[in-house]
Order: sequence, then structure tokens, then C-alpha cells
Amino acid sequence: MSTLFSPLPLRGLTARNRLWVAPMCQYSAVDGVPQEWHHTHLAQFASGGAGVVIAEATAVSPEGRISPDDVGIWNDAQRDAWRPITAAVRARGALAGIQLAHAGRKASTWSPLTDRRGSVPPADGGWQTVAPSAIAYDGFDAPTALDEAGIDRVASDFAAAARRALDAGFEVLEIHAAHGYLLHEFLSPLSNHRTDAYGGSLENRSRLLLRIVREIRDAAPAAPLLVRFSATDWADGGLDVAEVATVAGWAAEAGADLFDISSGGLVAAQRIETFPGYQVGLAAEVRRATGAPVGAVGLITGAAQAEQILADGDADMILAGREWLRDPHFALRAASELGVELDYWPAQYLRARP
Ligand SMILES: Cc1cc2nc3c(=O)[nH]c(=O)nc-3n(C[C@H](O)[C@H](O)[C@H](O)COP(=O)(O)O)c2cc1C
Repeated sequence: MSTLFSPLPLRGLTARNRLWVAPMCQYSAVDGVPQEWHHTHLAQFASGGAGVVIAEATAVSPEGRISPDDVGIWNDAQRDAWRPITAAVRARGALAGIQLAHAGRKASTWSPLTDRRGSVPPADGGWQTVAPSAIAYDGFDAPTALDEAGIDRVASDFAAAARRALDAGFEVLEIHAAHGYLLHEFLSPLSNHRTDAYGGSLENRSRLLLRIVREIRDAAPAAPLLVRFSATDWADGGLDVAEVATVAGWAAEAGADLFDISSGGLVAAQRIETFPGYQVGLAAEVRRATGAPVGAVGLITGAAQAEQILADGDADMILAGREWLRDPHFALRAASELGVELDYWPAQYLRARP
């Protein structure tokens, strides 16, 4: 009996299994509009047996893009281009998820697919970045601090993006509050030096995130809602897992369903040691502290490894990134390795089933 290949109920929906595709930027959009690449890229994971395919960090506003080549969901042209992509994912039996994102002070940077690094100057299509405080990420241009109207705008952009995402055929929503992007910047005392209601205490630093959770819950009452956190900044004076567990508890009360536990990305000086499953302990701590379901991610590459994490009670589902890039049929292979017979092998591929 495999837990990895047992269904996971999510509000009114059910993921067919607990091996999901983590959001992965492709830096291949034009004006925020997803392209043929995104279609093929995301649909293949659904054919490969994923429970939920979460599309990459998708900007809720133009200035929220990490690079000029990021996808967005702030206008109707983008919504229309996402529709056939979500339809392809759903037709292959996976739930279509999207990560709603604002890159904050780490926006307006060169795509890693180019040979340039750092901030994109305005003359090359870059823009002024925004953040809780005017503190630059190492080596990037300084952001301006959001004023109250700017904060209101961010909250309404997330809610509008959630509505548009559902309209585009997405079924599962994830708020990106990790990896040093805007909402993480609000959470961490290293990047948030505000003295108003959005800075200082943990309650104040989480105010914007919780507001966004509530607004999305109001805009999308039936949609499963995940929040991705960096559970630690891996830096002195930064966020730690106890604080993140507290915020996750508040987010659950505000309407979030599940927490996707990653780490790092806030400061260049982070001290991080990676090894197989290096973030699982953080997920387990958030799960224990909140009683809410969590996902584990980070160097989880094997079927037995993934199954064991669930058997140990450390997480409720597994997200993988790079293993899906190496093998878009990771779930089909993992099921075979665990001796699980799936009824969703694509009929066209059955002759290849071991
Ligand atoms: C190409 C690539 C793009 C990524 N883009 C995102 C992203 O858009 N949003 C995000 O939260 N994490 C992103 N990540 C991190 C992954 O979601 C995942 O957390 C990380 O790769 C660790 O999991 P893995 O060891 O299974 O790859 C990206 C990772 C890769 C390799």
C-alpha cells in the first residue's frame, strides 16, 4: 500500500497522488504571455503521472516579474494563452496549479538564459523594483519602499490574479512567499525595517501575506490554496522555522489549506548545506506545530525516498523539481518501482509499462 500514490483531498478536489511538480521558471514568455514551450513543458508532466502540476512563479503585475521573460497573469491576453495549457494538464488527469508571485526587490533581473547577471537597466527593459524597505539584495539595484497605497495595490493584484487564474482554468493556487521575493521580504526582519503596521512584530510582518490569503479566499472560496514559505533564511537575525510555523498557523486560520516548505533565497550571505531531503525536517516542524498538511521539497529524487518521508509523517505530499526535468514521467516510473499499478498510464504508452 503506497501513500505516495494515494489520493489527497484538497477542498472539493482530489489530487490523484502525492507526487507533484514544483513551480519552475522557464524564462520563456513574451510580454508575460506563456508560449508553446510552456504548453509542452507542463503537459508532459501530466502525461507522466503527476498529481498536481504547479506552473512557475507567475507575476501578478508587470513589476512583479523576476525577469522581463517571466510569465504573468495580470491581463486577459495572458489568461487566454494559459487556457489551452491548463486544459492539456487537466485532460491528462493532473490538477492544474499556478504559483502567484511578486518578485519584490529581486525583480527586474536578467533571465539566467541570457549571459548577463544582476539588474536589468531601464534602457534594456528593466524597471524600478519595490520592497518593504529600500534595502537592496546584494548586487542588485535598490528597491523603493512601498507606501500604503502600494501595499493595497499588491494585495488587490494578488486577488485579481487569483480570479483570472481560475478563469484561465487553473484549479489549485499557490502564493509565493518564499525565496526572497516580495512576501518573504515582508516576513523577514532582515529585509523589512518598516515602522508602520507592516513591520516590526511577527504579526505586523505577516500582515500583508495574511491579507492576501483572506482576499484570495474571498475571491476563490472553493480553490485549494497553498502558501510556499522559506522556513529559514539560513542567516543570523533572519526568519526561523518557529516563526514561520506561527505564520502558517495564522494563514491556515485565514483560509490557506496546505504549506509548501522550502527555504532560503533572501540574502546572498545565506549559509545553506544541501543534501537529499535537506528541507524535510523543516516541513515536518511546520506540520507538527500547525497540524496543517504540508509538502516537502528539495533533492527528493527517488520513489522509496519520497514514500519514506510520507510514511514517517514528515509531510503529506512531495514536490519535486529537477527530477521531473530529468524524467517527465517520474511518477509513472516511481509507481513501477514501488510496485503500484496505476490506472492512469497513458493508453498510448502502455506497451512501455514494465
Ligand atoms: C529551473 C528551476 C526553476 C525554478 N523556479 C521556481 C519558481 O518559479 N518558484 C519557486 O518557488 N521555486 C522555483 N524553483 C525551485 C523549485 O520549485 C524547487 O523548490 C527546487 O528546485 C528544489 O527541488 P528539487 O531538488 O526537486 O529540484 C525552481 C527550480 C528550478 C530548478
